[in-house]
Amino acid sequence: MRPGQSAPRTQRRQYFDHLAKDWIDELSEEDEFFLNTMLHLIETPPELGKRVLDIGCGTGVLFPFFEEWDMVALDFSSEMLSRARKRGARHIVEYVHADAHRLPFLGDSFARVVMMSVFPHFDDPSAVLQEIYRVLRPKGITALIHLKDIKTVNDIHAKIGGAVGNDQLPEIDDLKSIMHSAGFEVCHAEFENRVALICRKPAA
Ligand SMILES: C[S@@+](CC[C@H](N)C(=O)[O-])C[C@H]1O[C@@H](n2cnc3c(N)ncnc32)[C@H](O)[C@@H]1O
Repeated sequence: MRPGQSAPRTQRRQYFDHLAKDWIDELSEEDEFFLNTMLHLIETPPELGKRVLDIGCGTGVLFPFFEEWDMVALDFSSEMLSRARKRGARHIVEYVHADAHRLPFLGDSFARVVMMSVFPHFDDPSAVLQEIYRVLRPKGITALIHLKDIKTVNDIHAKIGGAVGNDQLPEIDDLKSIMHSAGFEVCHAEFENRVALICRKPAA
């Protein structure tokens, strides 16, 4: 693969299918603290309801953080989804095998959309954000989260190489401007040891 050129989506999907059985989804106490802080930082108004979409849910590491919610778990890797199903949880209302670039949901149907450790793997991040904007209700929130800083995330991908070798998380200002261009307001940004970019779809 040439520098800067991303792998075809099917190659990435195969990579994640293959990775599923070895994917480590244990969180440290610090990770849990960070996630709880971030996910509770910005409440969505009660009238938006309790439906949350987890894009690139993997094996379901975020499930326990949304026990009060009706969660839709989406991934394009059938192997990851199958591990997520095994983990199970009563509040998961749907497991969806689909690509984030074309979300199979009606517009204005979620209060929150979360993406943990998935954003660098999108070959057209703007298209995914457009889809998120479409499915979120006005005043709904999307959160882009990584449990490592930007440089570490990018170094890890480069070291793995192959299908994800060129998958890069953009720098802080670029991330914010991608969000703005997609129509979101940035409500909270955290970039020190971990990444959390929390954005709101403006009121209608
Ligand atoms: C690095 S794993 C993270 C999994 C989980 N969010 C976590 O933090 O443990 C990335 C996940 O995103 C999924 N993924 C990558 N690109 C995707 C896409 N275009 N549409 C849907 N899922 C995708 C992969 O299959 C994989 O399960």
